[in-house]
Amino acid sequence: MTVAERLAANAALVDEALDRYTAEEDADFATELTAERYSLLSRAKRIRPTLVLEFCRLFGGCDRAALPFAAAVEMVHTYSLIHDDLPCMDNDDLRRGRPTCHKAFGEATALLAGDGLLTRAFGVLATAPVSDRAVRDAVTVLAQGAGSFGMIGGQVMDLAGEGKHLSLESLLKLHSNKTGALIALSAELGCIAAGLSRDEEGTLAARRYAAGIGLAFQIVDDVLDVTSDVATLGKNVGSDARSEKTTFLTYYSVDEAMAYAARETEKAKSALRGIEGNEYLLALADYLLNRKY
Ligand code: IPE
Ligand code: IPE
Ligand code: MG
Ligand code: MG
Ligand code: MG
Repeated sequence: MTVAERLAANAALVDEALDRYTAEEDADFATELTAERYSLLSRAKRIRPTLVLEFCRLFGGCDRAALPFAAAVEMVHTYSLIHDDLPCMDNDDLRRGRPTCHKAFGEATALLAGDGLLTRAFGVLATAPVSDRAVRDAVTVLAQGAGSFGMIGGQVMDLAGEGKHLSLESLLKLHSNKTGALIALSAELGCIAAGLSRDEEGTLAARRYAAGIGLAFQIVDDVLDVTSDVATLGKNVGSDARSEKTTFLTYYSVDEAMAYAARETEKAKSALRGIEGNEYLLALADYLLNRKY
């Protein structure tokens, strides 16, 4: 199986779980529920849930344990994108190949759909067939990584940096929070699903790997915003320049930025050196560096 094929197989597992977790209907709540599913069940790479599944497998856990964690992290990621696209944030009208949630359903419903997904995620997490300690660790990890000292903090810096020249040091902190945090917590959730504790060597290695691919991932995202096209990306290009964001291309040329991302990818891979069964995660790191969308 190629890297892309295995990613697609993981995405199919995740899609089925997301569909199941959001199947309940109520006509009075339908606008919000429909908006949640509209954003969640659209064309997406499912990188974060793939990391949950793959780290769980790497350390001997089963998919059944990891899937609720994987679905939860994708719900949080999707909520972050719905809110990221709002007019008060990046003001984008295309996401995952479709009109953004607020374009399709209005701002208030998009706001609520994001809130709904974030809240639902913790409920789904708690259904995982793992030990009580593992559920407690997972809640802690998701709350920290998605919260004010994680993804949200990164979004705060991202917005504060519009129209200003952030230092490279600030930009690295911004990226490691707004994007790195969810990627790191995904890897860690996979370890927890496999029964590892938070301070175990395997968990620490997973976090080091994720820190490298997480930074590389956002650098490539910054590059694709300049070099790609709408049909390939499924979202608008030139969005960062329009909002006068500080990105990696504020500091580096496209080639230099890609070389930076390549170095981070190598660092990520070296974190898993010597761990039996690491082949797919090593190949995935390279695949994400060379992704076209
Ligand atoms: C987009 O994430 C937002 C970033 C953090 C760069 P992805 O590139 O993983 O988007 P989807 O989930 O495939 O739509
Ligand atoms: C979004 O970063 C990160 C989060 C949603 C937390 P971007 O604003 O660069 O993502 P895109 O380019 O809109 O997908
Ligand atoms: Mg943004
Ligand atoms: Mg954006
Ligand atoms: Mg971007």
